[in-house]
Amino acid sequence: MKKAILGISAYYHDSAAALLLDGEIVAAAQEERFTRKKHDSSFPISACRYVLQETGIDFKDLSAVAFYDKPFLKFERLLETYHAFAPSGFTSFLSAMPVWIKEKLFMRRLLSEHLSELGDSRKVPVFYPEHHLSHAASAFYPSPFEDAAIVTVDGVGEWATTTISKGHGKNIEILKELQFPHSIGLLYSAFTYYTGFTVNSGEYKLMGLAPYGNPDAQRTHDFKNKIVTELVDIRKDGSVVLNMDYFDYATGLKMVNEAKWEKLFGIPRRPAESDISQAYMDMALAIQQVTEDVVMRLVCTARQLTGSKNLVLAGGVALNCVANGKILRAGIFDGMWIQPAAGDAGGAVGAAYAVWYIRDGNERHLNGDADAMSGSYLGPEFSDKDVYRTLQKYDAKAAYYDDFSRLTADVAARLAEGNVVGWLQGRMEFGPRALGGRSILGDARNPEMQKKLNLKIKYREGFRPFAPSVLEEDIGDYFDIDRESPYMLLVAPIREDKKIPLPENYHDKPLYERLYFLRSDMPAITHIDYSARIQSVSRKTNPRYWDLINEFKRQTGYGVIVNTSFNVRGEPIVCTPEDAYRCFMRTEMDYLVLGNYVLDKKDQPALAEKGDWRSEFKLD
Ligand SMILES: [Fe+2]
Repeated sequence: MKKAILGISAYYHDSAAALLLDGEIVAAAQEERFTRKKHDSSFPISACRYVLQETGIDFKDLSAVAFYDKPFLKFERLLETYHAFAPSGFTSFLSAMPVWIKEKLFMRRLLSEHLSELGDSRKVPVFYPEHHLSHAASAFYPSPFEDAAIVTVDGVGEWATTTISKGHGKNIEILKELQFPHSIGLLYSAFTYYTGFTVNSGEYKLMGLAPYGNPDAQRTHDFKNKIVTELVDIRKDGSVVLNMDYFDYATGLKMVNEAKWEKLFGIPRRPAESDISQAYMDMALAIQQVTEDVVMRLVCTARQLTGSKNLVLAGGVALNCVANGKILRAGIFDGMWIQPAAGDAGGAVGAAYAVWYIRDGNERHLNGDADAMSGSYLGPEFSDKDVYRTLQKYDAKAAYYDDFSRLTADVAARLAEGNVVGWLQGRMEFGPRALGGRSILGDARNPEMQKKLNLKIKYREGFRPFAPSVLEEDIGDYFDIDRESPYMLLVAPIREDKKIPLPENYHDKPLYERLYFLRSDMPAITHIDYSARIQSVSRKTNPRYWDLINEFKRQTGYGVIVNTSFNVRGEPIVCTPEDAYRCFMRTEMDYLVLGNYVLDKKDQPALAEKGDWRSEFKLD
């Protein structure tokens, strides 16, 4: 009988479950996709049920459960004793601690209660690899490398915030660790907060805003200077020491001391959803540059300490694809691989791997050049029968295509006409990016596409850029990059011959004028600094998506389309055909493809809904 290990990440941020069968990752999903609550941190009961069902494994037959974090055992005992004798003292002590510690204190008990809901858990051993070991394992074991330098940098507060390790074969050796509260991830999150975005999900927006900052402005230089002299001491090896006078997150109440920040930077915290002035763009650029500097120092240290020519990354900061692109272009490493679920969700995969290789000592065998994530298509899949049932339920009108090449021909033609198409095919992606399993697609050449997608489909901030999907074999024809980027985690410039130069006084023009200046013949995916966050599509891991883009290329000459996640702002990416149909009907999307069915918006009956669906999702 094969050995099955259930990996779980829960209780802090982005819960998830993953299943490892004889060392091979066969299923993984985030809880938010089932509960429809973005970044759901509750016990991932639905995700656990899904990965077990996908593989036909009964809970009692698992060889182990691996939890991505270590409860504070001794601490828990100590506190329980304290509690028994001094309840009021205990309360005041607790309120002085970070919120996340409180949750961890009772994790072990909580976990066993939740596991018993899945089945008889008495005979299934539970292991607790350390949080950062789980991240490190998620970066190294599925990578295509026999040996690698492993760098994990977390976005949110834990004891270890940054680690450097060496991975070799089945072993991981942690070499360096930076401890809470000193954290480059938290520094970035503090700026996410101060620029008016939501911590833990708005970091992406801050990164997207940075290129609107003026690199030549005195203000940008001043901001940077203030960051590195007042807020953080950056050491040569990439470790950081934060000046805690400016931060409040250690007590879990607020990110920063706003009065001090306002005095230091001369601008108040931007109220959420208010207009973004140039000062906040300059601030975004300043913190992005500081972060890149720290990350670059860290990976250089990792190179020195490990001697390895390969780098693997995980942890929230590894989702900073701009920094990743810079590491790649710096040429410090030959090989580079980033866990697609780099945040805490990926800890579920890492924890399971840690048990399989480190605890059980199994040998590791590489899979040639391929990584072990199967394109990250590790979630639920739905048959045409499932789709049919959804269509019936909503009385939806759809055309069925027996022949998939006829479908791609029609859909590619609709895209080329400027339509926006929802696309649900095969297994759902694991990790924060939609990679052609649950995506919204458009024509990258269309100058109106970015505006249309942001304002009429996603209902989100107009400045936010979109990413291209490109045929893997064509990546070098459009972008200045020498390798594939299957997980949309690398930013690279578009090719020189595709660029349209900026007009004079460009930086003095208002944001939206700058935004809609056409920078290339693929304006919808060319970011303000001529870069793009690229996904290369492999025929092997996603043949249907590859076929569509290939057909689009046959019709238009361009093997590139816009790919954005299938959701509206604040909503988790859709999972089921029903989620997709609802999202399709709530937005101004023109067509929807569900497996072999194609739906035209014009043919659909009105969607009967109680109340305003916009109140269903909290804006992120
Ligand atoms: Fe983490």
